[in-house]
Amino acid sequence: MSRERQLTGLDRLLLQADRALRTLSPGAPAHPRPSPARATEEPQLDDRERRHAAGLMRVNHSGEVCAQALYQGQALTAKLPDVREEMEQAAEEEIDHLAWCEQRLRELDSRPSLLNPLWYGLSFGLGAAAGKVSDRVSLGFVAATEEQVCKHLDSHLERLPAQDTKSRAIVEQMREDEAEHQHAALAAGGARFPAPVKGLMTLVSKLMTSASYRV
Ligand SMILES: [Fe+2]
Ligand SMILES: [Fe+2]
Repeated sequence: MSRERQLTGLDRLLLQADRALRTLSPGAPAHPRPSPARATEEPQLDDRERRHAAGLMRVNHSGEVCAQALYQGQALTAKLPDVREEMEQAAEEEIDHLAWCEQRLRELDSRPSLLNPLWYGLSFGLGAAAGKVSDRVSLGFVAATEEQVCKHLDSHLERLPAQDTKSRAIVEQMREDEAEHQHAALAAGGARFPAPVKGLMTLVSKLMTSASYRV
């Protein structure tokens, strides 16, 4: 006789801890979706360009760490099971992005940000808090965050060295995916956040991006 097993609070906590460790350890998990940069030749970059591209890709990698944490935090507290499932599915897609950015950082002779555990903790807390308020707020938070991320990725497409076609291919695909995540969250009933809240989010993300670019 088979018995359906419900996840207890402790099971969930252990799952979260496992996911956090996997996000923060080097060697992002292999995933079926290959990197959009795989077919592109390694570009010729001088030291300054390579350092600049690595700084931007480190910011993007940190953003993906935040996305993992945000979705995990929300999945923990989301009330409706289908919302929880939707969040976990989106988080799975972000694993591709995480892996692509990490691989690109290695190719650029660089490494992820040392501040990632801090960003993970903060984003997890924010995600869990939004999920606690309501699913509408939680989905709205996803939509507003993804909107923010799209703006960042647009600015990175302007700032990345023109010949770094590998980094650009990754950022372009991520830009497409994040826009889809934003629309999906709104379509699923996410609240549209007022401008002051979005302004605050912009401020926080500016802090994060300027720190991760360097450290
Ligand atoms: Fe992403
Ligand atoms: Fe996303």
